[in-house]
Amino acid sequence: MVSPESHSRHAFSNPFAEDVHKGLTATPKYLLSRYFYDAAGDQLFQKIMDLPEYYLTRCEVEIFQKHGEAIFRKLAHGPFDLIELGAGDGLKTQILFGHLFHKNADFGYLPIDISGHALEQLEETLRKEWPQLSVTPVEGEYFSALQAIDRLSDRQKLVLFLGSNIGNMNQDQGADFLRQLRRQMHPGDGLLVGFDLKKDPDTVLAAYHDAQGVTREFNLNLLRRINRELGADFNLSAFRHCPVYNPLTGDMKSYLVSEKQQTVRIEALELEIPFRKWEAVDMELSKKYDQNEIAWLAEYAGFTIEDWFFDDKEYFTDVLFRVV
Ligand code: AVI
Repeated sequence: MVSPESHSRHAFSNPFAEDVHKGLTATPKYLLSRYFYDAAGDQLFQKIMDLPEYYLTRCEVEIFQKHGEAIFRKLAHGPFDLIELGAGDGLKTQILFGHLFHKNADFGYLPIDISGHALEQLEETLRKEWPQLSVTPVEGEYFSALQAIDRLSDRQKLVLFLGSNIGNMNQDQGADFLRQLRRQMHPGDGLLVGFDLKKDPDTVLAAYHDAQGVTREFNLNLLRRINRELGADFNLSAFRHCPVYNPLTGDMKSYLVSEKQQTVRIEALELEIPFRKWEAVDMELSKKYDQNEIAWLAEYAGFTIEDWFFDDKEYFTDVLFRVV
């Protein structure tokens, strides 16, 4: 039971503190993987994308290299706004720019991200690499940023949601996310979504259990962040990174498991969190899809599927959704 006092004692002004409080006092315990991405987490994720086991990025790059032209032949007819949700380092999108400039396409690029820092870096890279490109970074949450863009421009919209970012939501959250996105779009607009596909379970598991232990560090880094930002005393060596793949649901889950009975104090939350020996904290979902599930998602959200693009091994797909 949460007493009324404990509600008022924690009038959170910091969403990170509030979410950590919620997650670590819940049963079972969880943390939100969106908080993996502080400066150290961004660097670890860059390293993950280069790991031999982490096939996702390489597969999507291959799709863009092989099918970039076909994708954009389908995507746009006339001037358009290319809007990217969570652009990261923009590596894959830059492959598409090559195809677009080759075709003399008339477009502007609007990357949306909640991290102003990430956007600044991206803008700097793009100005150097593509001086002819019109870049308008938009800082904010995806949906409010999309609304703002809609007020600024009535050109056709092509939205990119790449990299299997949709896999970090469960299927219901993904479906609602796409439905909300659909409401912000107009007939003729397109949405390209990157999905990681179900495959040999050993291949999936290895991508989240790499030999160098970078993914382990990526998970533990969130405990480090809680220590630093909220004054906690997590002992990182007392938690084990435990990835588990369910081939039926496609749920690739990551847990941190407490190797002993221990109590962690979080100063900023005035909170002591007891851990039982072998108690797990749910850290991340990276859902893998099959084509039936993707078709269902599209229909639920109100899109038609115009085309599917695959890498040679069919590990990954970028799917072109259209608003009709
Ligand atoms: C960003 N996201 C799609 C990655 C994934 O595969 O779920 C994050 C990640 N987690 C562990 N490795 C990579």
